[in-house]
Amino acid sequence: MNFSKRLLDWYRIEHRDLPWRHTRDAYIIWLSEIILQQTQVKQGLPYFRKFVSRFPTVHDLARASEDEVLKLWQGLGYYSRARNLHFTAQYVSKTLNGIFPDNYKELKSLKGVGDYTAAAIASFAYEEPVAVVDGNVQRVLSRFLGIHTPINSTEGVKEFKLKAQDMLDASQPSIHNQAIMEFGALHCRPKSPKCMFCVFQEDCVAFRQGIQEELPVKIKT
Ligand code: ADE
Repeated sequence: MNFSKRLLDWYRIEHRDLPWRHTRDAYIIWLSEIILQQTQVKQGLPYFRKFVSRFPTVHDLARASEDEVLKLWQGLGYYSRARNLHFTAQYVSKTLNGIFPDNYKELKSLKGVGDYTAAAIASFAYEEPVAVVDGNVQRVLSRFLGIHTPINSTEGVKEFKLKAQDMLDASQPSIHNQAIMEFGALHCRPKSPKCMFCVFQEDCVAFRQGIQEELPVKIKT
């Protein structure tokens, strides 16, 4: 059966109600994704609420002092993220008249926005059919497809990107992308994945071979 259909059947029942899933505002989605880089949802949520409440639009964030932004960021770590956040807000506010780019390629040119974040904004805000690839997505795909290529090798990065794009339901990229990340975070977990109650049992290569805990492969660097 169709991968995306099963995934969405699972997602509709099991997903967490997270605030950034209720908007198509590229600014709010960008803000959430920058906060969530290298940060757990539980830790990032209060910061997201604080930032949205203090800076409801990109212009509000752009006008703030760097001091204030860094102060609100306190406790999240990786302060270069906060500096890039402020810099990009000023760029979008002044140079782009407050309008975020509406496609993956141009989004990637923003400071602090890499492959993953550009794909997230492009698909969540604009329904561009581009697959997100983060650690959750790599884990799901390596197990489901039985891929042993190390996720942190040059070859692996390329391979997982191609596979993720292959599996994407291009007719509903936003919910598909949210769902595959959520499935990795809640169900296809790094340790003790919930294989006993999994919609993919019959088709998952790793489960059939009993090697789910050995995947994905990561090389020591
Ligand atoms: N982690 C990073 N981005 C996320 C998102 N949009 N939803 C849930 N967890 C995330």
